[in-house]
Amino acid sequence: MSRGKFITFEGCDGCGKSTQLRLLSEYLTKNGIEHIFTREPGGGKISESIREILLNGKNSEMTDECEALLYAASRVQHLADRVEPALSSGKLVVCDRYVDSSFAYQAFARGLGFDFISKINSFALEKYLPDCTVFFDLTPEQAFVRKHGADENDRLEQAGMAFHKKVYEGYKTLAEKYPERIAVINAAQTPEQIAKEVIQTLKAKNCL
Ligand SMILES: Nc1ncnc2c1ncn2[C@@H]1O[C@H](COP(=O)(O)OP(=O)(O)OP(=O)(O)O)[C@@H](O)[C@H]1O
Ligand SMILES: [Mg+2]
Repeated sequence: MSRGKFITFEGCDGCGKSTQLRLLSEYLTKNGIEHIFTREPGGGKISESIREILLNGKNSEMTDECEALLYAASRVQHLADRVEPALSSGKLVVCDRYVDSSFAYQAFARGLGFDFISKINSFALEKYLPDCTVFFDLTPEQAFVRKHGADENDRLEQAGMAFHKKVYEGYKTLAEKYPERIAVINAAQTPEQIAKEVIQTLKAKNCL
């Protein structure tokens, strides 16, 4: 049996990743393509414990570097618990956010730098580089308006917009750096149109 393909979905908060996971799942099920959907920490005991440390309000003094290392550690465990078993049994794996989120959020937006994030994620990057990463291209302003309505534009600053803009710019930089792996899809279209482009892209990359 041939090894399954590994696909990741990326983009700013609220760009439509979960919506597209749902639509892709319908397509895969209809076409009898065996697959799993997952997201870190993926329900594994150890990854969940690491997540508890990350989210615990008592750990507010945690450094950005420690946070990035814990995300990387949780990622390695999730690969072993969920991703590897599925890929080795020939299933397609679609993961909601992966190593590019660490680049966009921690390397670019938090300013930890590309080299540090690459180094601590070298296991994921060398052994589990996605066959295709779909970047849903929607600016944080567009995502905000989608969520809160156009009248709420004055609340943009309160929503940490400067940070999210850096995340978005980070994703754009990554897409330019890895054009072979990262497919950019205009996410300001109807969900159905986007889903069609996702399927076309995955077919073109021999993932379907
Ligand atoms: N193509 C679209 N056009 C208009 N609205 C959309 C579209 N796709 C998703 N939405 C809506 O935008 C909101 C955010 O979508 P969704 O939850 O899929 O994004 P997400 O990327 O998974 O967000 P998060 O980063 O918070 O997990 C939802 O209310 C959803 O119904
Ligand atoms: Mg989501």
